[in-house]
Amino acid sequence: MKITVVGAGNVGATAAQRLVDKELANEVVLVDIIEGLPQGKGLDMYESAPIEATDTHVIGTNSYDETAGSHIVVITAGIARKPGMTREQLQDTNADIVKGVTEAIVAKSPQAILIVVSNPLDVMTYVAYKVSGFERHRVIGMAGILDTARYRTFIAMELGVSVEDVQALVLGGHGDSMVPLVRYTTVAGVPVTEFLDKPTIDKLVQRTRDGGIEIVNYLKTGSAYYAPSAAAVEMVKTVVKDKKRILPCAAYLQGEYGLRDTYIGVPVKLGRKGIEKIVEVPLTAEEKAALTKSAEEVKNNIAKLKL
Ligand code: NAI
Ligand code: 2OP
Repeated sequence: MKITVVGAGNVGATAAQRLVDKELANEVVLVDIIEGLPQGKGLDMYESAPIEATDTHVIGTNSYDETAGSHIVVITAGIARKPGMTREQLQDTNADIVKGVTEAIVAKSPQAILIVVSNPLDVMTYVAYKVSGFERHRVIGMAGILDTARYRTFIAMELGVSVEDVQALVLGGHGDSMVPLVRYTTVAGVPVTEFLDKPTIDKLVQRTRDGGIEIVNYLKTGSAYYAPSAAAVEMVKTVVKDKKRILPCAAYLQGEYGLRDTYIGVPVKLGRKGIEKIVEVPLTAEEKAALTKSAEEVKNNIAKLKL
């Protein structure tokens, strides 16, 4: 198993470290355009291997030659938000970056599964899909696992229970229009509405929608990376181990949920081949309308792309 991570910044380097610590590959290749950055971080990471007791070899590089034959490629290259910026304001810059990265990756690893992290997430995953020419099951976006993790964390904090006992699903685009499904949120199998009143749930839903900017406003120089890298690695692990987990990921829809020609966050069954099935959970008219509105926002942004 060979995994490439493109972008050796906060998300990319932390994801690479998690891959190494979990020994999810024989080789992790870390690529960046900044000379010395992936080499330095890669070597430093590899030097932690004897302590962490992992045999994953890490290579840091500015070239794509070392990425050849990768099974999975995680794309984190691009600029991140600063206070006052929306994810959409990253679009033009990051579309050029993701396009170039995808072309370089495809030339060396035509069979890879691509996991996109760069923002604005749904649009950048579309860019990777179009530019790669890969089948839709091999180009997947990471956002739903992160948004769901934030929502689960806020509920666990509110109730003073283990995060493990909170199960939930956040669908839609990775932005203000994301769709946390309160009806499908449970605590140890019991609907969350049995534990919390509507105003409290509404407050936690809003905090989830603002989850990204909350961290940006604390950090000031960039955006979140511990939870995002954990979410990306969860996807990698599910593919590597062929776990068939049902996880919310950005997928290209062709009629599912009544939507087509767009990437949007929906539950998918993930396994060794990538997306093995798009899972259509029953939605109320209100939930369906929220998902459709979110997809329309993504589509409007896709329409602005100059690929
Ligand atoms: P960062 O600024 O720490 O790292 C980005 C890295 O990409 C830098 O090292 C930069 O040199 C590199 N890079 C830029 N152009 C490149 C190219 N052409 N080829 C290779 N590397 C290139 O940013 P961070 O925090 O790691 O975030 C990365 C991206 O992920 C951002 O767009 C951010 O908005 C997004 N993000 C998405 C999340 C999601 O839920 N989907 C969550 C967190 C971040
Ligand atoms: C986040 O939600 C920046 O999209 C990133 O933290």
